[in-house]
Amino acid sequence: MRILTIIPTYNELDSLPKTLGRLRAAVPASDVLVADDNSPDGTGALADRIAAEDPQVHVMHRRGKEGLGAAYIAGFRWALERDYDVVVEMDADGSHQPEQLPALLSAVEDGADLVIGSRWVHGGSVVNWPFYRQLISRTGSTYARLMLGLGLRDITAGYRAFRRTTLEKLDFDSIESKGYGFQVDLAWRVAKMGLSVVEVPVTFVERELGSSKMSGNIVLEAMVNVTRWGLKERWSQLTRRGRQR
Ligand code: GDD
Ligand code: MN
Repeated sequence: MRILTIIPTYNELDSLPKTLGRLRAAVPASDVLVADDNSPDGTGALADRIAAEDPQVHVMHRRGKEGLGAAYIAGFRWALERDYDVVVEMDADGSHQPEQLPALLSAVEDGADLVIGSRWVHGGSVVNWPFYRQLISRTGSTYARLMLGLGLRDITAGYRAFRRTTLEKLDFDSIESKGYGFQVDLAWRVAKMGLSVVEVPVTFVERELGSSKMSGNIVLEAMVNVTRWGLKERWSQLTRRGRQR
């Protein structure tokens, strides 16, 4: 299996070197693509210096901050142009522990089309995550689960492994989500295609350095989209049933 781990960055100067070091040690087989949105703090230049010393580390420099979704889509395209079999999503700030990546990869080997590192399944947990963030995450996941009729517990999680064939089936041009709702969007599309989505428990550790890029707009975008998709799905089920009658 040829593996690529994509790490999107925006102002992660202090966290990135540590995360990269841990990842290269924990899963030496994985190549890495840092997708930097021209971070003002110089994360991109730092990534270049690390890449100069390590042929398995690559850097994609993007024009400016366009959101997590856009950075990942660019990274997925980069991966599909090369011969990777598995593509991993991982935050730069240490919240997604590289030492747990083998568990995600073995679920792919066992046949999953998408593996989600989940905080909210049995055995999963969060460390040092503020109460309000847990509330947003749990409530958001529950709302999305009910609205979209998906069995997933942690639908916004950003620690994931995609089988190449899963990415090949996605129409990136039609993905509008900019923020973290992008994760919900992808899970929803993959599940709707009838592919297998497996949740593997992980321990999410809140960052020690730098700050979160989460915002009210990101939450709002996700809620509006989930509501739209859910209603649209129900409407199409109703009209389908109507036509059958
Ligand atoms: N290139 C790029 N562009 N990277 C970004 C952007 C962006 O606009 N916004 C955020 N990132 C990067 C950060 O630098 C970090 O590596 C990763 O995306 C996650 O961002 P955080 O700001 O640390 O996210 P969080 O800890 O608040 O949120 C976590 O939980 C969310 C909800 O479950 C993450 O795991 C999210 O992926 C998850 O959706
Ligand atoms: Mn974080």
